[in-house]
Amino acid sequence: MEIKKIGVIGAGQMGNGIAHVCALSGYDVKLNDVSLERIESGLATINGNLSRQVKSNRISEAERDTALGRIQIAQSLEEFEDIDLVVETAAEDEAIKRQIFDDVCKVLRPEALLGSNTSSLSITRLAAATDRPEQFIGIHFMNPVPVMELVELIRGIATSEETFEAVQTCVATMGKSIAVAEDFPAFIVNRILLPMINEAIYTLYEGVGSVKAIDKAMKLGANHPMGPLELADFIGLDTCLSIMQVLYEGLADSKYRPCPLLVKYVEAGWLGRKTQRGFYDYRGEEPVPTR
Ligand code: CAA
Repeated sequence: MEIKKIGVIGAGQMGNGIAHVCALSGYDVKLNDVSLERIESGLATINGNLSRQVKSNRISEAERDTALGRIQIAQSLEEFEDIDLVVETAAEDEAIKRQIFDDVCKVLRPEALLGSNTSSLSITRLAAATDRPEQFIGIHFMNPVPVMELVELIRGIATSEETFEAVQTCVATMGKSIAVAEDFPAFIVNRILLPMINEAIYTLYEGVGSVKAIDKAMKLGANHPMGPLELADFIGLDTCLSIMQVLYEGLADSKYRPCPLLVKYVEAGWLGRKTQRGFYDYRGEEPVPTR
């Protein structure tokens, strides 16, 4: 099947990035979230990021305007009746995701495909709760979506070859490179990246290094573009904790235990950049370590 219309559920940092890339690649996009304010805030971010690309001559003004024109606001999932592919980007909470798929399947055409941008949950389990497990697939983009080249594709146990091929073609059209991962907790990138971030938080918790020293060490000592604590704030500490919990429970191995300091930050509501405080405080001109 050919994909032309993409419905993105969730206008947060992943959802708005995915809508941005889809629209820029020529797809018609419908963007949905729980409130109009959230969709409008997602659209404002897309506008800002497209303008950033115009400024650095990556795209023209006309391309920006055409892309923006391809994105429609969908205040209700009822508007997804003509969608070919859904990309769900809600919070990493299985109950929320199941409810969304339940609601959207009532509206979609029978041939429409379902994709989840989950960063860790079982594709097989999410698919099994829908009316179309053969047409369900994991499509895992990386943050920031307009910049990062990789997309992980994850087949559930029932995912059909037709579904895989249609989505593979669609993602390739977006100029992304694909890595295929098997359906095990956190797939490839987060299975490797999140234990590294969790270990960096233990390194802070045990007083081996300060926030600045840990980030500097990994930036200059391992050539990472961001230090692990800066990256944790960028991903969102709630998301980091959810992924560690999925690894810990799904693989039943104590090496994945979430650091108590990560739990404490999440309990405080200090979730990183999105709440302006995490391992750094972003409220001033320069980020300042919070411990
Ligand atoms: N939209 C569009 N363009 C963007 C952008 C965005 N959201 N963010 C950055 N850019 C562009 C900038 O405009 C700039 O473009 P030019 O080179 O054309 O000028 C370029 O990207 C580089 O940006 P900056 O100069 O602002 O900053 P930088 O060089 O420090 O790069 C970064 C920023 C690309 C985010 C870099 O720090 C980086 O690669 N960080 C690591 C990101 C990472 O590891 N992501 C994966 C997280 S894990 C994940 O996503 C999976 C999960 O499920 C948790």
